[in-house]
Amino acid sequence: MPRLTPNLLVIISTTVLLISVLYKNGLPDIQLPNLIIFQIARAIFSDTYCYVSVKTLSNKLPHAECFTVRNGRFTRVFLDETSFDVTKEQRTGHVIPGLWDGHGHLMQYGELMDSVNLFGADSMKEVKKRLVDYKTQHPEAGTSEQWLRGVGWDQANFGGKWPKAADLEIGGQFKDLYVMLDRVDVHCIWVSPKVLSLLPLPIPEVPGGDIPAMGIFCDNAMDLVLEHYPKPSSERRAKFLKDAMWDLNKLGVVGMHDAGVFPSELKLYEELADNEDWTVRVYAMMECEKRNTFCPEDAVKISRDDGKLSVRSVKLFGDGALGSWGSAMIEPYSDHPSTTGSLLVNATTLTELAIDWAKAGYQVNIHAIGDLANRLAIDAMSSALDAVCPGITRAKCQAERRFRIEHSQIIHPDDQKRMREIGIIPSIQPTHATSDMHYAESRLGKERTSKEAYLMKSLLPLNPVLGSDFPVEPANPFEGIYAAMTRRSPRTGLDKDGGKTGWYPEETLTLEEALRGFTVAPAYAAFMEGKAGTIQPGAYADWVVLDEPLEDMDPEKIKNIKVRETWVGGKRVWRKPGPIDIRGQGEEKLY
Ligand SMILES: *[C@@H]1O[C@H](CO)[C@@H](O)[C@H](O)[C@H]1NC(C)=O
Ligand SMILES: [Zn+2]
Repeated sequence: MPRLTPNLLVIISTTVLLISVLYKNGLPDIQLPNLIIFQIARAIFSDTYCYVSVKTLSNKLPHAECFTVRNGRFTRVFLDETSFDVTKEQRTGHVIPGLWDGHGHLMQYGELMDSVNLFGADSMKEVKKRLVDYKTQHPEAGTSEQWLRGVGWDQANFGGKWPKAADLEIGGQFKDLYVMLDRVDVHCIWVSPKVLSLLPLPIPEVPGGDIPAMGIFCDNAMDLVLEHYPKPSSERRAKFLKDAMWDLNKLGVVGMHDAGVFPSELKLYEELADNEDWTVRVYAMMECEKRNTFCPEDAVKISRDDGKLSVRSVKLFGDGALGSWGSAMIEPYSDHPSTTGSLLVNATTLTELAIDWAKAGYQVNIHAIGDLANRLAIDAMSSALDAVCPGITRAKCQAERRFRIEHSQIIHPDDQKRMREIGIIPSIQPTHATSDMHYAESRLGKERTSKEAYLMKSLLPLNPVLGSDFPVEPANPFEGIYAAMTRRSPRTGLDKDGGKTGWYPEETLTLEEALRGFTVAPAYAAFMEGKAGTIQPGAYADWVVLDEPLEDMDPEKIKNIKVRETWVGGKRVWRKPGPIDIRGQGEEKLY
């Protein structure tokens, strides 16, 4: 909401006075009505905004009321100013810095938004109905060039029985269609017979993968199908990004760390980032077309003054997921004693890659879930730090390089100590803890779970970056903040035992700590400290307006927050529908 501060008023009045003096002879009775002065002034200087409260997350002035924006950045942040057209009593809204998701997948999120929504479909009949409805509205979907996609099914809704490829023929209607549907956790896909026909027979076994029924592929076995998946056109991909950004803005997200983007995809990002409708700042981790390789010939680095897109990091992958026993563990799984999971890359290669990328000037970000993968990630990073900073301590070098471990899910106490010594940044998804709590202890046993798994408070000295891993988990950062504060599921409000104590409640974070994990911590981990995640002069003018102050809010209320407005670079990109203020009502797509 534009506000004019009194000192600007003084400047304008003086100017008007000067002009009237200059024209005194010709225009003897010049006396612009106040209203006109106000309108002109407002049009020229519509860059100061006042709210009931502004939480800045800046040490200089943690609590403010007003700020001024110029050229997409905050230029002044201040308290207690009497605004021009609205008295202090008339102000509404409580501001926090724009939120960042420290680990998500933008394109995949947009792609899933553009597919059949099967969440909550509680029977096979309902699934089929939704597929048929979607096909009616999207006649182009289902060809060999554009498969029909969906997400959200759960075999629990089919009486616990896995569905089959044949179920997707839907009375002959879908017989020749290419259909691929993601399970609710996006760890399995269900495909139609037409897709199945693309695969070689017999279908091979895949380490770290599972094929529980004909037409269902889980974890690494999904690659068998994905190899044949036709890549959407750049027009469609541009739409996925736009849709994803629109949805994220609604949730108060102004920036995200894109955890693995191919160089070819980054070219598209670069083109699109010039557009007005690129309304989420993206800090992308580059991933070579061939996973876990060194690809300097394709590598890109991007830095823009407007902060809409930056690339200076690389994503490497240590291991797979815990749910499918794919995470690499030092000791065998408690519920599967014959296995310790599997590494996606051996220690030698991981170290070589970390060194090569560090030497090429990249921040090295390694996906590691199991305690063995985390150990090897720390080893690799240590070697890379030694290689790029001979004669300097690893901690000092790390402060420059800011290597991070994506997920940091299960870490041996010895390695926690090493991480702390070096200062390696953990990138954590609080909702992974509350989604996995139901099976984590059976996989890991009590001892390992309590000492190693899903740590948050224990890693706090390392300023963990928090995120959601969307689309694996919902992208709503307030659900992440809730999960971090309560260690309970944002969906049910309950812990693993159906209680309210929280799962290993000693690992809960305070609101302030969790909020920092979605603001200043991702800014630091993206080399944007002072520029993002905070409201202070010089920072990008990104903020979120809430109806009530976050500070005194009950966590149960936090998880249901609907943000009122989201601003990116001084432009409003989202406004909650409804009679919220004098500017009118109704949902409005601003870009
Ligand atoms: C590690 O993997 C690389 C690449 O697959 C291979 O060439 C190398 O021999 C492996 N090293 C060890 C010690 O297994
Ligand atoms: Zn991820």
